[in-house]
Amino acid sequence: MGLETKLFHRDTWAEVNLDHIHENISSMKTRLQTGVSLFAVVKANAYGHGDYEVAKTALEAGADFLSVAFMDEALALRKKGITAPILVLGISRPESAAIAAEQGISVTAFDDAWLDSAKAQLKPGQVLQVHIKVDSGMGRIGIRDKNKLMKVESSLEKEACFNFQGIFTHFATADELNTDFYEKQLAVFKGMLTALTSLPEFVHAANSAASLRFADPVWNAVRMGISMYGLSPSMEMKPIVPFPLQQAISLKTKLVAVKQLVKGESVSYGATYTAQGNEWIGTLPIGYADGWIRKLQGQEVLIDGMRVPIVGRICMDQCMIKLPRSFPVGTEVTLIGADGLETISIDEIAAKLETINYEVTCMIGARVPRVYIKDNQQKHIRNYILE
Ligand SMILES: Cc1ncc(COP(=O)(O)O)c(C=O)c1O
Repeated sequence: MGLETKLFHRDTWAEVNLDHIHENISSMKTRLQTGVSLFAVVKANAYGHGDYEVAKTALEAGADFLSVAFMDEALALRKKGITAPILVLGISRPESAAIAAEQGISVTAFDDAWLDSAKAQLKPGQVLQVHIKVDSGMGRIGIRDKNKLMKVESSLEKEACFNFQGIFTHFATADELNTDFYEKQLAVFKGMLTALTSLPEFVHAANSAASLRFADPVWNAVRMGISMYGLSPSMEMKPIVPFPLQQAISLKTKLVAVKQLVKGESVSYGATYTAQGNEWIGTLPIGYADGWIRKLQGQEVLIDGMRVPIVGRICMDQCMIKLPRSFPVGTEVTLIGADGLETISIDEIAAKLETINYEVTCMIGARVPRVYIKDNQQKHIRNYILE
């Protein structure tokens, strides 16, 4: 790909394919029953993909709402020109009520005292959009008993400064094939809803896993996160995902140095890797400060369609690979993604790190520029450190 290299000055970048994100959302929308809204979850810089670009793509693909974890993330989207409704899923300070109302940002609440404090912050005439969070078994945030729910609902209904816009819960095990706990949570949520005098506009519970597997008449909106980025919510679920998911992000770099070591010479901190004979060693300008953490020592990368290993300890900004022969400086190397017939998936990296794919995409550091592909072409580059 002919990169517009003037916009960043180190040859390491993440490619984000917005066409794939668009396709994943369209597939989900086709699956949803008529009248079910889609909330695109773009928290954590859209799971590392870039909040603004993903939000825009999601809205173009038909998302009705955006969701983030924190107020700052919602405000960042507003600052970048996103005018669509946004829900902050996590706890916000009551002191943020006025700015949320001013910016049309919906908040999550589950406590009467919080509503009192928020009310005190609102300016005359302001209306705060509120979604009540129910803790149906996640044990994180939310209301756990009906009496408290009734009190919160009545506070919302009696105050003109609040609009009871939604109610939601979050599943802890929807990505596990055993559905016992999922069903228990769903039953708890349904039971809680019976305590309300009326249902708000949005009732939502399903994350990607639940939306991909189940449709329940209790919800009229879903919150789509990981599957929008083309990733399965769990390895267990991979064989039963009902439509093909297109992984959106790849991670690339280029050789910046190539040298031959002779037998007995070593590589990197601790001198833990020693050449067994004459060996070609390439240096890559990516390290643990970019999210390419030390535990990835030994992980393979792709060069010229071949898998080669990372040797020696990964440094903060660089790491070394063992090459089968000399390659010119500037040769492209793929850390995540496809090269020829070979592919390194995010799931492969997650397995190596004994973690989940969510963590891998979130780990790709802000120092790594994002290169956006749209309509099959490189469209736009975001370089956070030069912004
Ligand atoms: C409250 C809430 N809703 C929805 C999501 C999206 O979940 P997923 O990425 O599994 O689709 C998350 C993700 O962590 C979440 O915390």
